[in-house]
Amino acid sequence: MEDIQNKLMPYICDANSAVQFKLVKSKEDLETDDGFFFPDMSHQIFGEKEQIFGFTDLKLRIYYTASSLQIHTKLLYGRKINPEQFDGVKADDIMKSVREVLPANVIENVDDFSKKLDGEPNFKPFGEIIYNYTRQQKGKSTKRNFEIYKADMTNPNFKEYHQRIESFILWFIDAACFIDSDDDKWDFYVVFEKCTEGGITSHLFVGYSTCYRFYAYPDKIRPRISQVLVLPPYQRQGHCTELITAIYQQYVPKAAVLDITAEDPSENFQRVRDFIDSKNCLKLPEFQDSKLGQKFSKEMRKAAQEKYKINRRQARRVYEILRLRITPENDDVAFTKYRLAVKSRLN
Ligand SMILES: CC(C)(COP(=O)(O)OP(=O)(O)OC[C@H]1O[C@@H](n2cnc3c(N)ncnc32)[C@H](O)[C@@H]1OP(=O)(O)O)[C@@H](O)C(=O)NCCC(=O)NCCS
Repeated sequence: MEDIQNKLMPYICDANSAVQFKLVKSKEDLETDDGFFFPDMSHQIFGEKEQIFGFTDLKLRIYYTASSLQIHTKLLYGRKINPEQFDGVKADDIMKSVREVLPANVIENVDDFSKKLDGEPNFKPFGEIIYNYTRQQKGKSTKRNFEIYKADMTNPNFKEYHQRIESFILWFIDAACFIDSDDDKWDFYVVFEKCTEGGITSHLFVGYSTCYRFYAYPDKIRPRISQVLVLPPYQRQGHCTELITAIYQQYVPKAAVLDITAEDPSENFQRVRDFIDSKNCLKLPEFQDSKLGQKFSKEMRKAAQEKYKINRRQARRVYEILRLRITPENDDVAFTKYRLAVKSRLN
């Protein structure tokens, strides 16, 4: 028994390192071994253990054209288990599992996929541009340009584009599920890098967020930020911060918006949200140092809600963050007071 287990061991792969994504900008990108990024998780595709059985040196490469997100897959491995030598034990049907989570029109043939690259500069983002910003190029004096577009399902062909975007989420968002995009209460915000080379402008996909306009009694709406994703090559460069800021700019000025909520936020997303909300609230008289030393007040909740559409729970969280910021670490009395203020929420 132990013997057969030892023999099977080399055929077990960690799915999170076997699956590799690449955003393809040129035909050369299809040949090279660099520029890949990996999923954060794969349990929704390959099961709890996030393992794939039956191959050695497995690589499942999922290529996306960098603008229009056309998809091509390539399976590479050293050896595949031979059932005749292992009591009929078969390799997992990886492609079946992956096909279930990819849109239907994956391009099987690499030459066909490669031809799609010629049309990439013709790709135009869906919807309307609502926001733009720049980032300094690493080690250069030039800036990179980014644009955020707001789209919905009335934009022709956006449904298919969204399906291709959505094919990323199970690999990066815990408990993610595909949305019913036919529901017209969804708004979509998509971030692109705008690149101009040799007079040709392209829009490269960076990340996106969905937002559902919930009804709030009696005559308001309560937008809920749902899926948020910034692809790993673009993470930790402030794109989510810009994206959320752009979304706030859309909803905050609207009288019909009661407050903005977030669906089951991940820790990383919650930190970004805390950062934006705290920075905003610092501009309000109700969140100045003299007030923060006291209890969380009705005035704070009201100001956060009216000025920034922050809901009660998040306003309270912001208060705790900002109060901690002004509490001297070595002042035992002030720290005890802070702890008691937090405790009063937990009781
Ligand atoms: C959560 C997520 C959207 C954040 O996107 P992001 O673009 O990396 O976010 P930002 O760059 O605005 O901020 C992230 C961090 O980078 C830091 N940062 C921002 N600009 C930076 C820069 N130029 N250099 C270094 N760090 C920077 C921020 O301070 C922040 O720090 P923190 O980790 O202490 O909070 C992204 O990590 C993601 O898509 N994760 C997987 C999916 C997910 O969890 N989605 C949320 C589901 S609700």
